[in-house]
This record gives sequence, C-alpha cells and structure tokens, in this order.
Amino acid sequence: MSVAPAGPTREGWGSKTGFIMAAVGSAVGLGNMWRFSYVAAEGGGAAFVILYLMFVAFVGLPLLTSELVVGRMAQVSPVKALEKLAGPRWKPVGVLFAFCGLGILSYYSVIAGWTMRYTVDALRGVLPVDAAGASDYFGAVGEGTPSIVTHLIFMAITITVVTGGIKKGLERTAIILMPMLFVILIGLAVWATTLSGGGAGYAYYLRPQLSELFNPTIITAAAGQAFFSLSLGMGALMTYASYLRGKDSLPKQAVTIAIADFSVAFIAGLFIFPVIFHFGLADTIGLGGQLSDNTVGTLFITIPPALLSLAIGKWIVAAFFMMLFFAALTSAISLLEVVVSAVIDTWGWTRIKAAVVFGLMIAVLGLASAVNLDFLSAMDKLVGTVLLMLGGLLTSILVGYKIRDQAEAEIEGGLTPGLRKAWIGFMRYVIPPVLLVVLAFSLPGLIDAVKALFG
Ligand code: PHE
Repeated sequence: MSVAPAGPTREGWGSKTGFIMAAVGSAVGLGNMWRFSYVAAEGGGAAFVILYLMFVAFVGLPLLTSELVVGRMAQVSPVKALEKLAGPRWKPVGVLFAFCGLGILSYYSVIAGWTMRYTVDALRGVLPVDAAGASDYFGAVGEGTPSIVTHLIFMAITITVVTGGIKKGLERTAIILMPMLFVILIGLAVWATTLSGGGAGYAYYLRPQLSELFNPTIITAAAGQAFFSLSLGMGALMTYASYLRGKDSLPKQAVTIAIADFSVAFIAGLFIFPVIFHFGLADTIGLGGQLSDNTVGTLFITIPPALLSLAIGKWIVAAFFMMLFFAALTSAISLLEVVVSAVIDTWGWTRIKAAVVFGLMIAVLGLASAVNLDFLSAMDKLVGTVLLMLGGLLTSILVGYKIRDQAEAEIEGGLTPGLRKAWIGFMRYVIPPVLLVVLAFSLPGLIDAVKALFG
C-alpha cells in the first residue's frame, strides 16, 4: 500500500490568511442562511439564537480548537490521523467522518444548485412575482429533472476546484469569493434597514421568549445548527488544519472562524427577517408555529416574490442568491476535500482521480435528494445533524481522554495554562454529557424523519 507522505511533499496552504479564508469559507455556507433562517424560524426566533450562541461558545469553540489541534498535529487526513494518534480502533471514526462528508455534500449540492438557478433566473427576469407562483415555481425547479441538472452542474464546479489542489484550488477560490460574499451580505443587511415594518422582524429575531429556552426541540435544533454551521464533527477543519505548517496559535484561529461564522448567520438574519415581516410573509411561512414539510424551500419561496415587487428587486434577489452560491461553493469544496484527502492518504490515489471518482459517486447519491425533498430533509437530519453531533462526541473523547497529553503539548503557547485547563476540562466533563443529552433529545425527531422517508 502506498501512503502519501506527511513530509515536505504534502501540499500546504500558501499563507495564514489563505487558511483562515478557506476555513471561514467552509464554515460560512448554506447553513448560515438557508438553514439558519428556517431553523431559527422553527425555533422561536431569538430564543433559538441565544441557545445557538451558547452552543457555539461552549461546545463549538472548544471542539473547533480540538479539530485544528488534531489536524495540525497529525499532518494527514482524519482517517490516517486518528489511527496514527490513537491507534487502529479509532480508524473507523475517521471513516465515519469521510462518510459524513459524502452524505452531506450529496444533498448540499442539490440546494446549492437551486441558488445558481435562482441567480440566473432573477437576472433573466423569469422568477414569479406573486407568492403562489413562487411556491409553484419552487415545486417545479426544486424537485425532479431541473433539480438534477443544477445539482450536477454544481458538483462539476466543486470537483474542478478540488482537483486544483490546496493552494490553486481551495485557497484561491476562498480568497476571491469570501470578500465578495461579505460585501454583498452587508449591503443587503443595510438595505433591509430601509424597509418599513421591518421592526417586527427585528423584534421576532432579537427579542427572546424565555420559556422557549428550555424546549428540548429547540435546544437540539440549536446544537445541530451549531455543528452544521461551524463544519464540526466530521473532520472538515481537521483536514484543513492538516495542511498547516508552523506553530501559529490555533485557539486564536478557532475564535476567528467561529466569530466570522456567527456574524454571517446573524447578519443574514438581519436581512431575512425584516424582509419577511415587511412583506407580510410571517404567516405564509408559519413563523412561530410549526413549519410544514417544505421548510427547506422557505428561502427560495419567500425571498423572490417579496423583493421582485420593488424596482431594484431583481438585482437584490440576484445578489442574494449569488452570495448563497459563493457561500455554498467554499463549503462544498471542504466537504469533498475530507473525502479526497482520505483517499489520497490511504490509497495513494492522485488528487484528480480521487476528486473525480468520489465526486461522481456523490453526484449519483445526490440524485435521491434531487428527486425527493423528503429524502433531502431526512439526510439533513440524520447526517447533517445527528452524525455530526456523534462525531463531536467522539472527538471530545479522543482529545479529552485518549490523546490529552499530546493535544495539550500541541497547543502549548496558544493558551495560558488556566485556559488550557479549561479547554481540556470542557472536552472531558462538559461536552460529552451535553452531547449525550442532546443526542437523546434528537432521537424522536430522527425516528420521525426516517419514518417519513420509508412510511
Ligand atoms: N458549515 C457549512 C455551512 O454552514 C456546511 C458544512 C458542514 C461544511 C460540515 C463542511 C462540513 O453551510
């Protein structure tokens, strides 16, 4: 068996900024906008936002730091890394990570495909301007052949970027797209402040109903969202960190990534909620109540008709979906990279072969989501929520118990002794029990999703 060396011939990032941009690019994605807005709506707005923030700070940040530590320490893909650091019994965990990457990308690409279509259709002026039309339109392009076509195009783009490698593919894409994304996002949020009646949207979004803080469904949703949004629990950032050299402070980078990720989700909400309330769409999408099956389409159904009534609406809709597309692409490449780096490191394949073969496999798997939105939702619940939390649980056990000393040594100067203790303490005593509880909470929802799929 040939194994790609972890030595000087392994690829690496061109610069620290490049790494940060790529990592933020992985974190910032459809999760921050498509998923955040519909989950926040389901989860009672502000109560959800508070819980989410707590999960990001107390579970996400320590775990994110751990993933970076493990990745940089091992200098190989997670499958090899876990075996190398913790022994052969941990290899299946790395394999699980790669499977999560495969599973998530398969449906993620379907949604990303919709963002491309909506960008183009907004510019062509063919998106419907009334609410009923918008719903029909989404029904027509979101499922079936049109959805397959856009999914395949998006996968082709993702594969192309990943074949370019770390510096020329991943890093360059992130360095170009991320700044553009920030500019568009801030522009949209500023513009939304000019909307009358948006106040109710801000209020819904920012004023919590405290009773909801103890609702297990909302707690689970917030935890799952934190994992998904931060790209945690499946080795994406571990993989990215494995291409890092040098001894820069990893906790600092973890904080940067988490803050950037939260800010984007938060600012996206500052655009989406006022729009929803200004145009009187709160009832249509069932804010505050239970959303219906088609929650995955919320953004695609509400945003266009609302904005297209305005003179400049077409441009705003196009900008919005283009921003989503940029965000999706930089995340999708990290999902594929987890798989590709595992294949390169374990089987010694070339990057091109690994990206094309596994990219095609993911494209085929994604057909199931492209023709059936219930399947897409079920995948999102199973792989995009539950398996990520399971991955996080295993990572906390790994770093907190199994390789604690090595991990502490790797982080050395990055944390003061007190903070280092706190970090390990979280990995050992806080995160595992919290995740066990949340996983238990999430079981009923998971069973429902699976039943909906087969029943
Ligand atoms: N974090 C990405 C998003 O918010 C999704 C993602 C999850 C990417 C897991 C990589 C790994 O859209």
